Amino acid sequence: MKRLKQLSPGINAYTVSFDACLLDRLRKVFDTYLRQGLSDIKNAHLLSGNNNVNVEINYQALQFHILSYGNAPLLWISNNNIRTYNIFKSFLRSLDILDDIKQLVDYKKELRMYCGFFVVGNKMDRETWHVDYYNGANAYTLITPLFELDELHGNLIYKNESSTVKKYRYKMNEAVIFGDNFHHATEPYEQTEKLRVMLSLTVGTDKIKYWNILKNTIGDQSNFMILPCGHQKGTCHCLDKC
Ligand SMILES: [Fe+2]
Ligand SMILES: [Zn+2]
Repeated sequence: MKRLKQLSPGINAYTVSFDACLLDRLRKVFDTYLRQGLSDIKNAHLLSGNNNVNVEINYQALQFHILSYGNAPLLWISNNNIRTYNIFKSFLRSLDILDDIKQLVDYKKELRMYCGFFVVGNKMDRETWHVDYYNGANAYTLITPLFELDELHGNLIYKNESSTVKKYRYKMNEAVIFGDNFHHATEPYEQTEKLRVMLSLTVGTDKIKYWNILKNTIGDQSNFMILPCGHQKGTCHCLDKC
């Protein structure tokens, strides 16, 4: 491993530190297109967690899909066209971690980035324990703060090898990357003035046979997604073969 450091022995999670300027473009995108709308008092209900949010928003070139899960107060804002997707992908490439991730997954030619997200909230009232991938998915999630966090903002809680609950404290210019069987949740926190804005992306195998495992957790996270075959979800018949 050239860049990734294992978070703790025996668990499928790693960290990597990177140069702050690599996030400049995505910060600018968030500030230009999303921050004002999300901070507007008229839109406070979006972050309240009592509404199911499912909206697509289009600017000239950039498009986003805003989704909440159940009644958890967290918005998943995904790239909703190729141009927006490519901004997230450039960030992933700039991290220089793909060779390391290749050592962790079964792939044919190259890794795919499936989707990029801004994950936005201002409170968390519960521990929603879950895994991002089931056994053998051959994929990873990357998360890093997009902006400096408030000291009250929740960190990442996870279970180590002996199922003890541990805390990973998010740091600026450091990403956490985790794969199948990594049990985790956002640490609950009281409502803050400041938005908690995380960057998240999913990356993994280009072998379509793993879609059957992948789809259970990432299949419906976003409208726009690049599948392991390299095509945009909904535009090909490659999945018929798996
Ligand atoms: Fe997760
Ligand atoms: Zn395809």
